[in-house]
Amino acid sequence: MGTIIFNDDDEVEVAEGESIKECCEEAGIPFACEEGLCGTCVIEVEEGMEHLSEFTQEESDFLGDQGCERLACQCKMKGSGRVKVKF
Ligand code: FES
Repeated sequence: MGTIIFNDDDEVEVAEGESIKECCEEAGIPFACEEGLCGTCVIEVEEGMEHLSEFTQEESDFLGDQGCERLACQCKMKGSGRVKVKF
């Protein structure tokens, strides 16, 4: 079980291997295509990128360089760490 922390405030637990989409949606992050194509769900990962799944091809195509931005519809929890997200 990992933890996603939204805007230094809300904390939500996510099981290993589970998509973070649902908890992001509940935290108020907007979604549209849910396929990594539109960029609506862009989040900034402030800490704990290593606890998220590898970048998908869709994320690499949309975001370019693998920096601190991710597409929330594409990310899964990896391991049991803490991930700080800003949106
Ligand atoms: S909802 Fe379109 S890229 Fe995530």
